[in-house]
Amino acid sequence: MSLQKEINRRRTFGIISHPDAGKTTLTEKLLLFGGAIQEAGAVKSNKIKKGATSDFMEIERQRGISVATSVLAFEYNGTKINILDTPGHKDFAEDTFRTLTAVDSVIVVIDVAKGVEEQTEKLVEVCRMRNIPIIVFVNKLDREGKDAFELLDEIEQKLNLRVTPLSFPIGMGYDFKGIYNIWEKNINLFSGDSRKNIEETIEISNLEDNELDNLVGNQAASTLREEIELTSGIYPTFSKEEYLNGALQPVFFGSALNNFGVRELLDCFVKIAPTPRPKESTIRLVKPDEPNFTGFVFKIHANMDPKHRDRLAFIKIVSGVFERNKPYLHVRNGKKMKFSSPNAFFAEKKQIVDKSYPGDIVGLHDTGNFKIGDTLTEGENLLYKGIPSFSPEHFKYINNADPMKSKQLEKGIDQLMDEGVAQLFTLELNGRKVIGTVGALQFEVIQYRLEHEYGATCRYENLNVYKACWVDINKSNHDELIEFKRIKAKFLAKDKRGQLVFFADSNFTLQMTQQKFPNVKLHFVSEFD
Ligand code: G4P
Repeated sequence: MSLQKEINRRRTFGIISHPDAGKTTLTEKLLLFGGAIQEAGAVKSNKIKKGATSDFMEIERQRGISVATSVLAFEYNGTKINILDTPGHKDFAEDTFRTLTAVDSVIVVIDVAKGVEEQTEKLVEVCRMRNIPIIVFVNKLDREGKDAFELLDEIEQKLNLRVTPLSFPIGMGYDFKGIYNIWEKNINLFSGDSRKNIEETIEISNLEDNELDNLVGNQAASTLREEIELTSGIYPTFSKEEYLNGALQPVFFGSALNNFGVRELLDCFVKIAPTPRPKESTIRLVKPDEPNFTGFVFKIHANMDPKHRDRLAFIKIVSGVFERNKPYLHVRNGKKMKFSSPNAFFAEKKQIVDKSYPGDIVGLHDTGNFKIGDTLTEGENLLYKGIPSFSPEHFKYINNADPMKSKQLEKGIDQLMDEGVAQLFTLELNGRKVIGTVGALQFEVIQYRLEHEYGATCRYENLNVYKACWVDINKSNHDELIEFKRIKAKFLAKDKRGQLVFFADSNFTLQMTQQKFPNVKLHFVSEFD
């Protein structure tokens, strides 16, 4: 098959949601449709369950699962679908942000009763910033929940989206009768026992047809007619182009658990979702159909077996064909590298592959050469942009608790940071090391992993920081910057890449600093133009 054909048949996306909205269940049903798994319950949820075990043991267990579920690939009617797993837990938000740099589109799952929740707001904001095409799936229609119009309003307002429903529920909860598919003009009736089966659809090209009354009853039929008329008055007509530009978001309703409305979602998804998209690099825009291979690392999974320093670097292929045993340039360190056993992912299995195409993810065994964001090419000196670090929320000094093991500690910290578990800062004034994390859990993870994987022990010491702000030294006023550095010397640090960072200890300090030094440019994200 030609490169272009391979590209055209690929869809690489992520499912994002607040925990418990139904991401795992929906993923599982999609895999069932693709025939990639045979029964429900096969996809393990990689969320952190409360209460059962202590948090870090739970994280270890979950790390095992998340290797298996990092990429779930399957074929559906000739389309190759790659689902990239995104942790829902807020302490792992940074992981999800990074994964979003490797997807070409997303499906957002919303619980019909809970509506738009906090984690969804944050993740959708990141997608909007990048104009990632979004489809919304409103889940759990078999339960009582919010009115469909109220929910569509909420999605528009809280997520700042412009929505248009492509399916519409007939009743809800106890009275849930089924879904009218606006996109395909047919009806699916809900029987409650469709969990294991793929439900049948009934074509209804004309809603005025009496057949509708026979199927759902007079009352529900007339409500549906009114509601569909209303939707066509209120919401914009679906346009694939607008969806692909991130300017319009189609909404589907269903119940993942009952396998209801999922086929409609999937069928529409393969028709409208984008094929692998071009990606901006430091020197130019790279198109997927270019003959030369390029790709970048968006995730590193390390030390699943503590006896071996095994790491798996996940590469998203941006252009060309990735081939086994062909030498590629690791652009950051200028080395040529060959990979004898690249892994591709099919459902939950890993498998060595000879060739992979744009949109695919390959897992490369790594002995410590890769960092998140690294680029591989066939020789061209380009680096992919777009894996920024966000300001951490929690900060602590990290100290060595065993002077005999300082080398191990250094190596451990170094590798955990390459993996993106947390961020390391070094204070300018005294060289002390500070760890910054998105969630409090990561401190436990780091301590546990340093001990179990590197034989090093650490102690933390509290540090009062409200936000880390990256200083844009190129766009800041020179004299003002010198004065800023003099006055704020105690609060300056370097991140791992050597960029200057200002630690503000409170919102008030931050505002005062910005007032006092208006021409020193501060950012909450490590990447800026
Ligand atoms: P997550 O990955 O987004 O965190 O959510 P997950 O799929 O694990 O679903 C969270 C809970 O919601 C699960 O119940 C799941 O069975 C349920 N659920 C998912 N889709 C639907 C739906 O369409 N209708 C209803 N009524 N429930 C749904 P749980 O009790 O937490 O877990 P489990 O014991 O069922 O695994």
